[in-house]
Amino acid sequence: PTNSFFTNTLIAWYHRHKRALPWRETTDPYAIWLSEVILQQTRVKQGLPYYLRFLEQFPTVYSLANAPQDEVLRLWQGLGYYSRARNLHFTAKQVVEQFGGQFPKSYQGLLQLKGIGSYTAAAIASFAYQEQVAVLDGNVYRVLARVFGKHENIAAPASKKVFEALANELIPAGEPDTYNQAIMEFGAIQCTPVAPDCLFCPLQQTCFAFLNGLVSALPVKEKA
Ligand code: ADE
Ligand code: SF4
Repeated sequence: PTNSFFTNTLIAWYHRHKRALPWRETTDPYAIWLSEVILQQTRVKQGLPYYLRFLEQFPTVYSLANAPQDEVLRLWQGLGYYSRARNLHFTAKQVVEQFGGQFPKSYQGLLQLKGIGSYTAAAIASFAYQEQVAVLDGNVYRVLARVFGKHENIAAPASKKVFEALANELIPAGEPDTYNQAIMEFGAIQCTPVAPDCLFCPLQQTCFAFLNGLVSALPVKEKA
């Protein structure tokens, strides 16, 4: 597809199919950050009640930073990967101690936080500040690899540049937040890892993988 056909089709699909999720109704960088940390290795359905409990117990980055570590870990119980909870607490303290309780206001600024990597920085910058920066996660790699026929190995760090360049070309002026939510949602619901719903897909007639019988071959993911 052309870039604009892809983006317009994706956004139209999103408006029809998106799930109502509370972190999509806020522009508070703290709440968005919290949701992204919880959702990193956790499904939406499982993470949602944790997100709500965390926000209730710790409504601001100050309250989280000031909480005892065992209280944070207790609230995290059941989510697994406890290093995420310790990292969450550490980052909250860093925001309070080094940034006066304000999350940095740009992608580059957010990257200065030790616990925030490029994915989370892009999510916060686009959702909270409407900055034109594309998120790259497993969903995004898969959708772009299939639709645009990108054969780069997504397990190889060098491939990131290729997908990053394409993703940042596709992001529409003025709605980076909608676009980023849309491509992640499309990957989660329509263009799934196994058995994607190609039959009822609005990109079917322009999708490289579908047209070439390569849906199950893309993305290429080979561990070194
Ligand atoms: N997974 C990671 N981030 C997400 C988001 N913002 N919405 C839905 N699922 C997600
Ligand atoms: Fe994904 Fe299939 Fe749609 Fe292509 S046609 S974007 S592979 S769901």
